[in-house]
Amino acid sequence: MTNAQKWVALFLGLFLLLFLLERLTKKEEAQMPPIPSQMTEQAAQQSGETDGAGLIKRIGCVSCHGENLNGTKLAPALAELKKYWSRDGLINYMRNPQSYSRDERFNAYREKYKNVIMPSYGNIDVKELGKIAEYLLTK
Ligand code: HEC
Repeated sequence: MTNAQKWVALFLGLFLLLFLLERLTKKEEAQMPPIPSQMTEQAAQQSGETDGAGLIKRIGCVSCHGENLNGTKLAPALAELKKYWSRDGLINYMRNPQSYSRDERFNAYREKYKNVIMPSYGNIDVKELGKIAEYLLTK
């Protein structure tokens, strides 16, 4: 082989190597990432939905009580509930808000949010209601 031929062979070899490397890395890109990223997204969603704050979003309490539970025209703020409620008390209330005793606060609520009733959540797992109650009591 002449020197020139050696150079040509070297370049061809390098070219081939780069080409193969690119194919390999492309394949990895195409196959690998979507699966793990989908899974982590799902896992994040699932874990987000199982804590109190996540449940409150998922169930839709925020649509009446406000994004940060600060209250809206439809429903009062859910703040300082620990002044009035125990964990079990809150669970019972959520399961059956209509039967809740008519103390001052609730008479005022009924006056102020005349056209809205707090839905009852007896269909939701008590364990989940427990998590919601615990979360509400931290606010
Ligand atoms: C359709 C609107 C609406 C939705 C949805 C809703 N609420 Fe209410 N909520 C109310 C209204 C209105 C009141 C005021 C009491 C009343 O009028 O009976 C209330 C009252 C409450 C209270 C009592 C507040 C206090 O000061 O003691 C709690 C606790 C509460 N809601 C929690 C929740 C939780 C938790 C969810 C979701 C699981 C939820 N609410 C979903 C409308 C709603």
